[in-house]
Amino acid sequence: MLRNHYASLDPAMRGWMDDKPSYLAPMQLGHPVRASTLGMVAQSRNPDFPVGTWAAGLNGIEDYSLCRPGASRRIDPDAMPSVTNHLSVLSGVGLTAYFGLLHVGQPKAGETVLVTGAAGAVGSIVGQIAKMKGCRTVGIAGGPRKCERLLRDYGYDAAIDYRGKSPTELVAAIRAAAPGGVDLQFENVGGEILDAGLLALNPKARVVLCGLISQYNSAPAPTHNLWELIVHGARIEGFILTQWVSRIGEAVPDLMAWVKQGKLRIDEHIDEGIENALPAFLRLFQGTNEGKMILKLA
Ligand SMILES: NC(=O)c1ccc[n+]([C@@H]2O[C@H](COP(=O)([O-])OP(=O)(O)OC[C@H]3O[C@@H](n4cnc5c(N)ncnc54)[C@H](OP(=O)(O)O)[C@@H]3O)[C@@H](O)[C@H]2O)c1
Repeated sequence: MLRNHYASLDPAMRGWMDDKPSYLAPMQLGHPVRASTLGMVAQSRNPDFPVGTWAAGLNGIEDYSLCRPGASRRIDPDAMPSVTNHLSVLSGVGLTAYFGLLHVGQPKAGETVLVTGAAGAVGSIVGQIAKMKGCRTVGIAGGPRKCERLLRDYGYDAAIDYRGKSPTELVAAIRAAAPGGVDLQFENVGGEILDAGLLALNPKARVVLCGLISQYNSAPAPTHNLWELIVHGARIEGFILTQWVSRIGEAVPDLMAWVKQGKLRIDEHIDEGIENALPAFLRLFQGTNEGKMILKLA
């Protein structure tokens, strides 16, 4: 039995609330909201998880979780600057950025990488890793404050504020920020933003579909510019982190080293109190989170 200290709040949870088949079964009404949590073992009959051990797993937004054998992982609380890093850079967010960018997108030095949702938890890490790999990085985010952070905190070469821009203005802004075109588009948002990026693709570009957050609370918007993929011989590929679970061991040492060497900045937005779970979760859709959204429970 785990005393949950922190719960990870993720856009994916919105999808689990829809009553339709997906990569995980829908959440059930009347049950705790499913979430990854991190906490300390409070009672145990499992010698691998003695009382006092830090552990993480897919549990629920609840004070205590009963964990099934094999469904939790032990956490060394001293392995990283903050124990919460196990819900951000060493969890769904950092690993998604790592595999999505490096293995699905396969960036090459000198290429231009366009990241949407660029100031968010996944996007900020994608931008920084792309930069480490010698790419030119262009980020799209909502509002001047986030755009400032793209340049200052995450090393983006150019930042575009999508708010208040018409689709035509957005396309013009992308073309101005990436005059040589886009070789790799890392897509977290979808809709008009995805569509605008497609108009700047270079021959043989890759579009990595990581998320479509603009569509999670609305009917899917049509995509108008798929023709660009045909014209440019470009590739669009979706992925979900669960497809990379067997290779997590490859990513963790790199991510840990980059954080410890100061090459990878990780921002976490921690709200406190189980009673604030809903407003904290909604931040993801309002854009008021600044970093990985985490709820402190204890
Ligand atoms: N494929 C996978 O395995 C996988 C795993 C993890 C996450 N993801 C996806 O990665 C994306 C980012 O997740 P995250 O955890 O890093 O969240 P996040 O980016 O830290 O937070 C969500 C951000 O999305 C932006 N946003 C929300 N609604 C929007 C809209 N209608 N139009 C444009 N932007 C909007 C907001 O930023 P602004 O203020 O900039 O608008 C908000 O801060 C999500 O799409 C998520 O589903 C995929």
